[in-house]
Amino acid sequence: MNRNLVHLISQAEIVSTVRRLAVEIDRDYQDRSLVLVGILKGSFIFLADLVREIEIPIANIEFLRLSSYGSSMVSSGEAKITMNLPPKAIAGKDILVVEDIVDTGITTDTALRYLQNYQPASLRLCALLDKPARRQVPVKIDYLGSTVEDLFIVGYGIDFDQKYRQLPDIYYLEEEQDSETAEKANYPINQAMAAKN
Ligand code: PRP
Repeated sequence: MNRNLVHLISQAEIVSTVRRLAVEIDRDYQDRSLVLVGILKGSFIFLADLVREIEIPIANIEFLRLSSYGSSMVSSGEAKITMNLPPKAIAGKDILVVEDIVDTGITTDTALRYLQNYQPASLRLCALLDKPARRQVPVKIDYLGSTVEDLFIVGYGIDFDQKYRQLPDIYYLEEEQDSETAEKANYPINQAMAAKN
């Protein structure tokens, strides 16, 4: 099955969304000791851009790695923590979890529950994208970039089978049924890179 990349959110739109989120975070965490916790791998680009827009001093940046999709387009229904962090990085701190996308909510809910166990002073969530149509577990998003339809999103750190994370824009994958068009779309990543130039 061939899959086409369809453009969804431009780099310019992402920049403006990340700036808006940073302003909201700056406003709420004045004079507090903010610790960011990025959920790997998908959040690595979003987190890198977000920290450079936040103006208040950030006390620490930590990472938690969870995985639920493997090479499938469907969540396994269970998020496994495959890399954790030292409890003392969390206890008594103002923690802001940074996620690329909340889909079923399973990954984020697992991360938030895990962090809550270490008794942070506060625990909030910043997510670039929300896909509420697929939610299985309720998740409160305190700082949200954009809501997306029920599409398989890739780019800007988000993968399908580890590919497409490098794309600066956000796309969705569309299954290609027509063989003639599919042949032309054999190298979707090249198409996407060409389209951005
Ligand atoms: C993706 C994405 C989110 C999560 C959202 O991660 O980066 O963390 O899925 O899906 P959910 O709300 O249905 O749980 P993935 O498990 O693919 O791992 P990755 O971040 O390493 O790509």
